[in-house]
Amino acid sequence: MRVIIRKNAESACVTAARTIAALVHRKPNAVLGLATGGTPVNCYAELIRLHRQGKLDFSNVTTFNLDEYVGLPREHSQSFYSFMHDKFFNHVNVAPSRVHLPDGMASDLAKACDDYEQQITDAGGIDLQLLGIGSDGHIAFNEPGSSLASRTRVKTLCLETIRDNARFFGSEAAVPRLSVTMGVGSIMDARRCLLLVTGANKAAAVRSAIEGPITSQVTASALQMHRFATVVLDEGAASWLTRKADYQFAESSMPDPDELLG
Ligand code: PGA
Repeated sequence: MRVIIRKNAESACVTAARTIAALVHRKPNAVLGLATGGTPVNCYAELIRLHRQGKLDFSNVTTFNLDEYVGLPREHSQSFYSFMHDKFFNHVNVAPSRVHLPDGMASDLAKACDDYEQQITDAGGIDLQLLGIGSDGHIAFNEPGSSLASRTRVKTLCLETIRDNARFFGSEAAVPRLSVTMGVGSIMDARRCLLLVTGANKAAAVRSAIEGPITSQVTASALQMHRFATVVLDEGAASWLTRKADYQFAESSMPDPDELLG
């Protein structure tokens, strides 16, 4: 795992965005796996900024989002479909036909999950998967106990995630109980994983994911087995790491992941 520690959340988000931008430069028809949540908002803002400067063209990019709530219509303000359009898709030139999110309103959810996996395969697989981490260590909605071999499926949200996401819905009672989420196995199939985490409230989850044992109790720890995983943190998220000095020493002789953009 490559661990990059930036001074603050803003520069961590810029690094993540420029890593994605560098890939799209190299491979204009890249398949991107995208994530929702408070953390990546500034990453998307930087991608939009680069696009507006004429430095980034998404016209041949294909996207797959990690997850969606079950039972929320797409037009609901808290659906991940709405989030992605508000924060990113409406501001860049991604072709709507190349945008994919799981359908939490499908009448046959099991079939919709299988179809989603097939669509990813048909697109050639995901080149880079952007990820966040939950305070319970989840990636996507793969809550503690999720099989590390899991594929896209319906998953119950755990109490901690419902509490964390209540801020978006106004109350815990309003948070959906179920999601459709790519599995840990689906995520591990991506050619590259980019985990972006900011804030001291995630420091414990980050330490477990990077330095703890690989366990289904912290599904982000599966990334230790990924052949090309990069973790971008701010100082707060990195504050519980015991080998922080080693990661910083290693980084001092590594090229910047965003060097292609200058
Ligand atoms: P957050 O969510 O960015 O809103 O903290 C991250 C996650 O749950 O994956």
